[in-house]
Parts: sequence; structure tokens; C-alpha cells
Amino acid sequence: MNVTPRPILKPFLRTLAGEASERPPVWLMRQAGRYLPEYRATRAEAGSFLDLCYNPALAAEVTLQPIRRYGFDAAILFADILLIPHALGQELAFREGEGPVLGAIRTEGELVKLRLEGLHQRLAPVYEAVSRIKAALPAETALIGFAGAPWTVATYMLEGRGGNEQAAAKTWAFGNPAGLDRLISLLVEATCAYLDQQVRAGAEVVQLFDTWAGVLPDEQFQRYCVLPVKMIVNRLKALHPDLKIIAFPRGAGLHLDGYAAATGVDALGLDYTMPLAWARDHLWSRGITVQGNLDPRLLLVGGPQMAQAVQRLLRHFAGRNYIFNLGHGILPETPPQHVEQLMQLLRGATRMA
Ligand code: CP3
Repeated sequence: MNVTPRPILKPFLRTLAGEASERPPVWLMRQAGRYLPEYRATRAEAGSFLDLCYNPALAAEVTLQPIRRYGFDAAILFADILLIPHALGQELAFREGEGPVLGAIRTEGELVKLRLEGLHQRLAPVYEAVSRIKAALPAETALIGFAGAPWTVATYMLEGRGGNEQAAAKTWAFGNPAGLDRLISLLVEATCAYLDQQVRAGAEVVQLFDTWAGVLPDEQFQRYCVLPVKMIVNRLKALHPDLKIIAFPRGAGLHLDGYAAATGVDALGLDYTMPLAWARDHLWSRGITVQGNLDPRLLLVGGPQMAQAVQRLLRHFAGRNYIFNLGHGILPETPPQHVEQLMQLLRGATRMA
């Protein structure tokens, strides 16, 4: 049989396949969120943040809101990295102004309370949201599924909340590495199963968020950040050979190029501290796609300061396989007009080309 490969039509997917473009595709981490009045209205309708995550119709609606407003090249599923601990049986609540609060795990013995059984039943509304989003997206817009990387998810599970440099998980990493291995292995299983289902439901790309990758010394970074992500990448690629995987190991700094080589991800999200010249010299030589890294606070400031930084990014990455994004999530107090201004700057790049 003579099979001609189908051309990839979505700009975001072409860039992830290694193609350079004049106008970089763009999406923004936390593009659906509190800075948008329509998001705040839908969350109020849902009742709470978690009710919103588990309501397929409303989760699909908030995923699509920023696509309608700005025409981003990719939509990211609306959910949270902490739905996995919740589905494994850990208590979870999001408190206004306080962030997530989990029923903290204090001892290794308490890990037996976490169960993989029933995972898909509890996460079924998320898969349903993925199908609904996929059906509603414009033909040129790609759909990103996501999960937290095991280390970052473990830090919240052991700390019970954010902040504090994730001290509890680091204490396990040094004091009870075998116990932490046990939790990380469980999270690798859960994450593979969860992302596999997201892909089956229609996600074309997945991103792994490792927000706390930057707090570990080298040896522990290899064991808890690199190895688990490598296992997830291998498993998902065996199941879905065409799937593209992006990792965002925030704060990984000089570890990044070794991380790219060892994990086999297709693209790396750069946080806003990474020098662009370093990325050019160390990452493109590996053929990897780079995503990032405008400081979200510059988007909040807007105006000429933001415009200058955007132009600098565009100049630096011109003619390369580059995805425009922020170096971390949009800040809730960002004026939506600044995102409009950003999109005009990025679209202007087409007209100039
Ligand atoms: O638009 C998108 O990017 C998709 C949805 C998304 C959310 N969280 C929704 C959300 C994604 C991809 C995440 C990832 C996530 N969640 C991460 C990794 C990325 C990062 O920001 O570092 C982390 C660490 C979490 C855990 C989490 N969720 C925290 C610590 C908090 C509280 C802090 C905060 O930003 O409010 C959340 C809440 C959360 N997740 C909100 C949203 C829109 C705000 C909740 C609200 O509406 O009140």
C-alpha cells in the first residue's frame, strides 16, 4: 500500500516537529484563568475551582475562552496538576487567596492509602472535557493535555500546600529516598495512565509541569526529576509514537541540556531566568524545540517595556523552531488588553516578514 504521510496543518504541531517559522506559534501558560472576566464568571457559575475542573462542559468553556478572545495557536486543557493526588485518594481543597490545601502525608506508612484503582472513574470528567474541547476547536488550533511531573506533584502531596521551598519533599529525598521512590513510582504509573487517556480523548501534545525542578541538588535532580520523566516519555511514546511531549522543568538552569538528552522530550519550556544565548547554543544543537520565556510580570507591565522584550525574543529566535510563551503562568492581575497588545506584536511579525 502506498501511504503518503498526511501534511501537518497546525502551525503549533509543525514547530514541534522541528520546522522553523517566520511567525512563531503562541500560547500562554495559564491562558485560561483569573485575569479574564469571563473565566471568573464561569468559575462562579461552577461554584468552586474544583467543581469547575470536574465539570466537562464548563471546563471546556473556560479552555475555549482565551482561544476565542486571542486566537492562540494552542489550547491547554483546563484542569490542575493536583487532580492526580485527589484521584489517588488524597484530600484536596482550593481556598481563596491561599491556594491548594491537601491532607498531608507525614509517614511512609500513609502511602498505602493512595490507590490507583478507580483513577479513571474519578478523572473521567477530565477526559470528557478533552473530547468536548477537541470537537469545538478551530481546525488550526492544537490541543495540549498536561500533568504535573512526579516530583512537583509529590512536593505538594508531602507538604500539604505550596511555598516553603517544598521542604517536606526535600527532607524525604535526603532522609527517606526509598520512601520517596515509592511515591514517585506510583505517580509515574498514574501520570502515564492519565495522559494516555487524555491522548485517546483528543490531546495532540502533552506538557509536563515540573514547577519545583529547581530546588534539588544534582544527584536528587537526576533521580526525582530526570528519571521519572524519562519513564513517562518512553511509555507514552511507545503507546503513541507521534505524540509530542513538552517539559517545563522550572529553575533547572544548567541541567536543561542534559535533561533534554536524557528524557527524550520534543520541546523544553524555558523559565524567564534562562539566557537566550544559552538556549540557542545548547538546545538547538540537539534539534529540540524551545518554548518561552517572557517574564509574566512584563506582560503585566505592558507598554514599550514589554514590546522591547518581545522584539528581542523574536529577533533571537527568528528562523528557528520556537514557540512563543511566558517563562511562567500569567499573573491574575494582568490586564487582558496587554495580552491583546502582545498578540498584535506577534502578528505584526508576520506582516514584517
Ligand atoms: O490555562 C492553563 O494553563 C490550564 C490550566 C492550569 C491550571 N493549573 C489552572 C489553575 C494548569 C496547566 C495548571 C498547572 C499547575 N497547577 C501547576 C504547574 C504550573 C505552575 O503554575 O507552576 C501548579 C504548581 C499547580 C498547582 C496550583 N493550582 C497552585 C499552586 C494553585 C494556586 C496558586 C494560583 O495560581 O492560584 C492552583 C490554582 C489554579 N490552577 C488556578 C487556575 C486557573 C487558580 C484557581 C482559581 O481560579 O482560583
